[in-house]
Order: sequence, then C-alpha cells, then structure tokens
Amino acid sequence: MDLRVIDHPLVGARLAMLRDRRADNARFRAVLRDLTTMLVYEACRDIEVTEIDVQTPVAPTRGVRVANPPLLVPVLRAGLGMVDQAQAMLPEADLGMVGLARDESTHRPTAYLESLPEDLSGRPVLVLDPMLATGGSMVHTVELLRGRGADAVTVICVVAAPQGVEAVRACGAADRLVTASLDDGLDADAFIVPGLGDAGDRQYGPR
Ligand code: PRP
Repeated sequence: MDLRVIDHPLVGARLAMLRDRRADNARFRAVLRDLTTMLVYEACRDIEVTEIDVQTPVAPTRGVRVANPPLLVPVLRAGLGMVDQAQAMLPEADLGMVGLARDESTHRPTAYLESLPEDLSGRPVLVLDPMLATGGSMVHTVELLRGRGADAVTVICVVAAPQGVEAVRACGAADRLVTASLDDGLDADAFIVPGLGDAGDRQYGPR
C-alpha cells in the first residue's frame, strides 16, 4: 500500500485549526471542507486522463479529462462532511455510502448502511473518512469494496493513527492511503492522540 502523508504548509495550517478544541461545529465543517479539497487534489495526482480536443476562444488545442472518475464513498457520519468538496473536485464522480458506528466499549464497528453498486469491477474508489483510529471501520469498508470488485481503492483520512494504517495495510484491500497527518497513537478509549476529537460529534453533535 502506498502511504502519502501530505506535507504542505496550507494543509498543516488547516490541520491545526481542525485540531483546536475551540473550533465550533460550523468552523470544524468549514476547515474540513478546505482540507478535503487539498487531500483529494493530492490523491488524484496520478489519476488516468484521456486527451481531448478543446477549442478556446482563440484557437484549437489539446486538453485532458479524467478517464474513469472514481466512485466516492464517505463513511458516515463523519465522512459526509468531505462529500461536497470531493464532488466539487470530481464533478463526474458517482457516490456510494457506508454507514458505520463504532461501539464505545469494544471499539468494533457496526454497519447500519451500505448503499453501493453491486458490481464495482474496473471502478476506482475514493473512500472518505476524517479519522483512521484502530482501522476497524476502514478495514470493513475497503474489504466490502474489494469484495464487490473495486479496482483501485484509495483511502483519504485527515488524521491517521499508526495502528490504523497498519491494519489497513495488513488487510491488503487498499492500494493507497492519503492523510494530512500520521499521529502518535491511540489512548485507552481508542481515540487518536493528539487527533482532533470525534469528527462526527464535532460536525453534527453527539450521537
Ligand atoms: C469514527 C470515525 C471513523 C471511525 C474510526 O466514526 O469517523 O469512522 O470512528 O475509528 P476506527 O478506526 O477505530 O474504526 P464513529 O464510529 O465515531 O461514527 P460517526 O462518524 O457517526 O461519529
């Protein structure tokens, strides 16, 4: 699995704003949208393009379009806050959804929603979730996508714990993981340290 930790001043500055406990829900959502734009941009750096003819107001020229737009798959709830900007960057992309809730004591995810095309053969996928903690939720998601035949699975997380990265790597179902930060680890409640708290609660309120 290709791991890309995006080292960029504007990503770093937004990440500090997102981590700040004083950011209210509206600010958290706004900063997450900015970060999503930057992470999707980096995640699509090597995306396949097709050459096309373009007529400018002045002259004909050549251009490109994305050859096979990826399916966007937010992991609800927290991944919902990344959808608008991912769609803005990839306007032709279709959208699927996976809904998972992590049990507070076992830290294992329970699935409550799967809204995905049955057959994903030949389709690249971009999975969106602000947080990768133990990796249980992401392993469930990428294995589900691979089981339906997804071709190239890219995971985009804002912050990732090393344990989560290792779990996703070990399951073998993701090709690439793009994150703004590889954090130090997990606390006793399996929260990312230093992390940013609970990205679902910080956008939408307590569940
Ligand atoms: C959070 C987060 C991830 C998951 C990460 O969601 O958004 O989906 O936990 O934890 P893991 O790597 O240990 O599985 P949560 O279950 O709190 O649900 P929410 O997004 O609805 O708040």
